Amino acid sequence: MTLEQIKALLADMSLQEKIGQLLQLTGNFYAQEGLATGPMSDMELTQEQVDCAGSILSTVGAKQLRQIQSAYMERQPHHIPLLFMADVINGFRTVFPIPLAQGCSFDPALSEEMARISAKEAARAGLHVTFSPMVDLVRDARWGRVMESTGEDPYLNRLFCRAMIRGYQGEQVGEKDHIAACVKHFAGYGAPMGGREYNQVELSERTLREEYLPAYQAGVEAGAEMFMTSFNTLGRLPSSANRELMQDILRKEWGFDGVLISDWAAIEELLNHGVAADKEEAAYLALQAGVDIDMVTNVYANHLEQQIREGKLPMEWLDASVLRILTLKNKLGLFENPYKDGDESYDEMPEIEAAHRSFARKAAAETFVLLKNDGILPLPQAPTEQVKSIAFVGPYVEEKKICGSWSLFFRMEENVTIREALEEAAAAGKLEIPLTWGRGCQVLDYGQKRDGFREHAENGCTREELEAMEAEAVRLAREADVVVMPLGEHHEYTGEGASRTEIGIPEHQMELFRRVHAVNPNIVVVNFSGRPLDLREVSRKARAVLQVWFPGTEGGHAIVDTLFGETEPGGRLAMSFPYNVGQVPVYYSGLNTGRPHVDGAADCRCVSRYIDAPNKPLYSFGYGLGYTKFTYSPVRLSGAVLEQCQARETGGEKQLIASVTLTNTGSRPGTEVVQLYLRDLAGSVSRPLRELKGFQRIFLAPGESREVAFTITEEMLRFYRLDMIYGSEPGSFMAYIGADSNTENGAEFRLA
Ligand code: GLC
Repeated sequence: MTLEQIKALLADMSLQEKIGQLLQLTGNFYAQEGLATGPMSDMELTQEQVDCAGSILSTVGAKQLRQIQSAYMERQPHHIPLLFMADVINGFRTVFPIPLAQGCSFDPALSEEMARISAKEAARAGLHVTFSPMVDLVRDARWGRVMESTGEDPYLNRLFCRAMIRGYQGEQVGEKDHIAACVKHFAGYGAPMGGREYNQVELSERTLREEYLPAYQAGVEAGAEMFMTSFNTLGRLPSSANRELMQDILRKEWGFDGVLISDWAAIEELLNHGVAADKEEAAYLALQAGVDIDMVTNVYANHLEQQIREGKLPMEWLDASVLRILTLKNKLGLFENPYKDGDESYDEMPEIEAAHRSFARKAAAETFVLLKNDGILPLPQAPTEQVKSIAFVGPYVEEKKICGSWSLFFRMEENVTIREALEEAAAAGKLEIPLTWGRGCQVLDYGQKRDGFREHAENGCTREELEAMEAEAVRLAREADVVVMPLGEHHEYTGEGASRTEIGIPEHQMELFRRVHAVNPNIVVVNFSGRPLDLREVSRKARAVLQVWFPGTEGGHAIVDTLFGETEPGGRLAMSFPYNVGQVPVYYSGLNTGRPHVDGAADCRCVSRYIDAPNKPLYSFGYGLGYTKFTYSPVRLSGAVLEQCQARETGGEKQLIASVTLTNTGSRPGTEVVQLYLRDLAGSVSRPLRELKGFQRIFLAPGESREVAFTITEEMLRFYRLDMIYGSEPGSFMAYIGADSNTENGAEFRLA
């Protein structure tokens, strides 16, 4: 339809119809099953209101959605189609690594392809919108939703945000096999006080703008069709009532003209926050802030009409919201084809598309981070003098639940476990070394239960069964030369509503680790988690530690490929692993403070340090090992001065080139993630110790060297100055190029 036709439709709609477009319901109002991803309250809605709702969420399937859409459109007075939305966070039927793992790939193109595949599978299942990407900056491992973010760095998050939106939406969101992206959770949700879910967020405007907002703004720049408000308060104001955030920044400053949806029941929760005395006030505040869709509450449905009829609330606000919703439906082509790409034959497809599966296998390995390796990895594929047999001992050896907790639409039987991958490789003659396996314990401890969005989980074993399981595992470990221990958190221990005050590997699993270590210290730990964990003990005692996050459908294949050297662990940390939970929040780009302390420096009482722990995390941002070694030459600069004024006057950017010579000094080919960090040595406000400003994934053969160059521009030196203007200031800077955020390989330059 044309814009004129859309406006004519709007003009012809009744007040009830208009208000209906702002209502989003769960699919079970229209179908047998829908997935509730939050608490439900009694909706108190009439059938007429249900017949006029604008969208539904969390129901999928081409056949079911076609039935819902056709029945609904018959009853809808103007036959306006529904929007179908769902949380397609890291894949649909093919499940990819969790977003935090994707961030560790330092490969936005990889995430773009994962998003493209996810969009195709979701679109064929009848969906129009995904509530992804989540671009909240995260630095607190106690918070369960760190798994949904691509990490602690604004620059990295911006790149992944853009990549995922490109993957989901393509060039035009109405294109076949593409869906609209929804950037969330706007804003600052990733910094809840105490790491406690839904808790208040306290950020200065400078920190908010400097570090927390850039990735959301990248979402606007990338053309995201939708934004979602966050549950938290900022400056004690809940986002769904925050006009400054939603109108002044998102729409006016950034130019976002898409649809703004509340998070689950967030408009009604304005009452809990204590900023709305009743639902009328909540409706007023949210619509005034420009929130277009009320997710699963009746606040808009039952509390806008009277305010509008009485002139307390301008019809223009409502019309503006309805126009944005109708415009999105039109962009998706729903007025011409309300079923878009729904393909019932796709629903019934017996197998995941082979290309999707093989990509998931490759992608997972690129997200794994090798945290420690004394040379025991890669493992031999055939017996050697030192290693004649390998035992796989741990609860994740044959665990099918290796997808992140926001993986809602996959088929469990399609996941590949470590054991299945081992058996397959052995049967194909790829692995000749004798292998044994035993769970040793369950992922959950005896008697433990955990409810997720999809399923109820529990340990399920008797004490006797667990004792026998452990005894068998210890026997296998004793008899083998090397023990691989797949351990880690339960997949529902991260995600929404999963904050923890302790962030270790579950203690019952650590008891198994200690018993195995007592009989065989040649241990490789494979750690499954959705958050950075306190890995001090396994890092001290194991010979290698491989972080695999929640790798998704092809996890078992990717882990076995990596352990036996078919591929190398490609990841570098996108989020620091703390030394312990007491350090949290810990991240690489902090300030120097007036009394800086560097771990290992001479003992001094009155400096910025802990008396019982180091300042540095256990593993820093950007860190990760491969299976070969690289050396870096000192940083070379093409000049000592970058002309600020000249850059501005000429329009063209005066540039400096910073470069190193990278050499693969190992015996295997490998990929290094070469990272560029800049530090502003003095500014009108205190500046971070360093900030990631570039990275390149460089593949080198053994012995090969290559120059790796980065262009430094004046724009890269800008920040929110004392006057809150975003700009650069003359002065001295350091350019560091190295393998992680701790590199001291740097050179100084000036901005004139
Ligand atoms: C949840 C989450 C949000 C999700 C929405 C719909 O509460 O906060 O990320 O997209 O509800 O499931």
